[in-house]
Amino acid sequence: MYQHVEAYAGDPILSLVETFKQDPRPNKINLSIGIYFDNEGKMPLPESVRVASERLGIKTQAYLPMEGHAGFREQLGQLMLGADNPALQAKRVAVVQTLGGSGALRLGADFIHRWFPNAKLHVSDPTWDNHRGIFMGAGFTVQTYPYYDAATIGVKFDEMCAYGVKFDEMCAYLQGLPENDVVLLHPCCHNPTGVDLSVEQWDTVLKIVAERKLIPFMDIAYMGFGDTFDSDAYAIRRAVDLNLPVFASCSFSKNMSLYGQRTGGLLVLAPTADEAELILGQMKLTVRRMYSSPPAQGGLTAYNVLSDADLSAQWQNEVYEMRDRIRAMRQKLYDVLSARQPEKDYSYFIRQRGMFSYTGLSVAQVHRLRDEFAIYVLDTGRLCIAGLNDSNIDTVANALATVFAE
Ligand SMILES: Cc1ncc(COP(=O)(O)O)c(C=O)c1O
Repeated sequence: MYQHVEAYAGDPILSLVETFKQDPRPNKINLSIGIYFDNEGKMPLPESVRVASERLGIKTQAYLPMEGHAGFREQLGQLMLGADNPALQAKRVAVVQTLGGSGALRLGADFIHRWFPNAKLHVSDPTWDNHRGIFMGAGFTVQTYPYYDAATIGVKFDEMCAYGVKFDEMCAYLQGLPENDVVLLHPCCHNPTGVDLSVEQWDTVLKIVAERKLIPFMDIAYMGFGDTFDSDAYAIRRAVDLNLPVFASCSFSKNMSLYGQRTGGLLVLAPTADEAELILGQMKLTVRRMYSSPPAQGGLTAYNVLSDADLSAQWQNEVYEMRDRIRAMRQKLYDVLSARQPEKDYSYFIRQRGMFSYTGLSVAQVHRLRDEFAIYVLDTGRLCIAGLNDSNIDTVANALATVFAE
């Protein structure tokens, strides 16, 4: 009966995790998946999130409304846009609690494709693999805009963060797009490269987005891991200030460690409060037809953190500790590699931001790392810095130095 069903080749990241699990070598190191691990190699639960979920307890939860928990949605709006953002006060922002960041991407994609059926999606080259899949699943044609500049790896730069992007090519590409096309942007901690735009570059990009009347879809899954919560949200807030038709998909998977609780949200800025209501109504309809309502536990936990001033401050500090640990690991990699190969410039490891580093490893080098050293990195050369710790950093740095020296 099902002979005609096509086999699924599997997701490249999740398949590699399975291969890792089956690897019998005791010293194996997994730097492939985008999960934050602490210095003991464990997936930590921030104390603030633990306290909030304990307060919540385990009890029967009624269904949440289609659009999610009202308090969670209010807190999310304030976290993303700033507490006193005039657009929030004017009720011009439709906010929906979603199944993680992925759910927010799909909900936004479905809405745009339904009401702007000719709009194409443009993603950075490269981007998180599933961006393409999620939007194609919603019916989009997906194209790429120039972004990462591999030629800058190993070259010395003066300006922090003003490197690694084919910025002129990116701008020229965006200039050529038709009205209402969607541009997927990473406000901070670009996945997979770790290469972000500077504030000046954001201003230029958003100016083009405004002039060309494009739809900026801002996907923020690592808020607080780049710099500060406020500065990581710069591009989103600036786009809202400019009154652009912003879609912002947000995830609490990494920064609250709520991976399996599927906790995230979608924000859409409308020109008027009435239009925000229309958008919200259509999103409720989509949710009703797809999964009816979001899971309660994660949303309520996040709400309990964000709505309590002390817990919220504690949480932000805990995220900054994670950010600082990632930075320390970047520095250590840089130190070891530079000491072993002083003729090369490894400063990209400390310039990139967030959990990931595009290492510049070739596929052959990635496979050598896996076969010879039991170190798992994606074939693209993406390495999850958050998987490094005091116990494995020397092994990894030395293995990298060895394969880089080939
Ligand atoms: C850039 C980006 N967007 C969205 C997501 C999806 O987030 P979630 O796991 O909450 O669905 C991820 C997760 O890795 C991501 O890296």
